[in-house]
Amino acid sequence: TVYDCSVIELDKHHHEKGNITVLENGNTIPFHVKRSYYLYDVPGGESRGGHAHKGLFQLIVAASGSFAVTLDDGKIKRTFTLNRPYQGLLVVPGIWRELDDFSSGSVCLVFASMKYDAGDYIRDYDEFLKFKSDKNE
Ligand code: TYD
Repeated sequence: TVYDCSVIELDKHHHEKGNITVLENGNTIPFHVKRSYYLYDVPGGESRGGHAHKGLFQLIVAASGSFAVTLDDGKIKRTFTLNRPYQGLLVVPGIWRELDDFSSGSVCLVFASMKYDAGDYIRDYDEFLKFKSDKNE
C-alpha cells in the first residue's frame, strides 16, 4: 500500500565547501540498484509518471529543485513534496505515481531495482485497478 512508501533520510556528509550524499548497495535502501536515471528540463506545468510498475522498486530524489510525487495504491493517495537532495522517496511495486509541480531547473534522480523493462509498466489506470484486485489488494 502507499503506507509501504516513505521518505528515507540519506547519508549526508556536510562540508563547508559543499555537501555529498552517498548511496551504497547493501545499506541505506531496501533493494539493490540495477539502474539509475534522471529527469530534467521538465517544462513548467508538465506532469510525468502516470503509470505503475509490477515489480520495480524505486528511490526518487530531488537532486536539485523540487517537485511533487502523488502515490496511489488504488484506494489511498498520498502526495509527497521532494525538495532535499538528502531525502529519497521509496516507491514499492504496485503503486500508481504522478509527478508534477516541477520547479525550474529541478532534477529528478531515480534509483531502480531492475533494468528497463517495458513489460513491467502498467500504463492504463483501469488495468492498474484490475491488477490490484486480482492480487486482492
Ligand atoms: P517513462 O518511464 O514513461 O517516463 P515518466 O514516467 O518519467 O513519464 O519513460 C519515458 C520514455 O523513456 C519511455 O519511452 C521509455 C524510455 N525509458 C527508457 O528507455 N529507459 C528507462 O530506463 C526509462 C526510465 C525510460
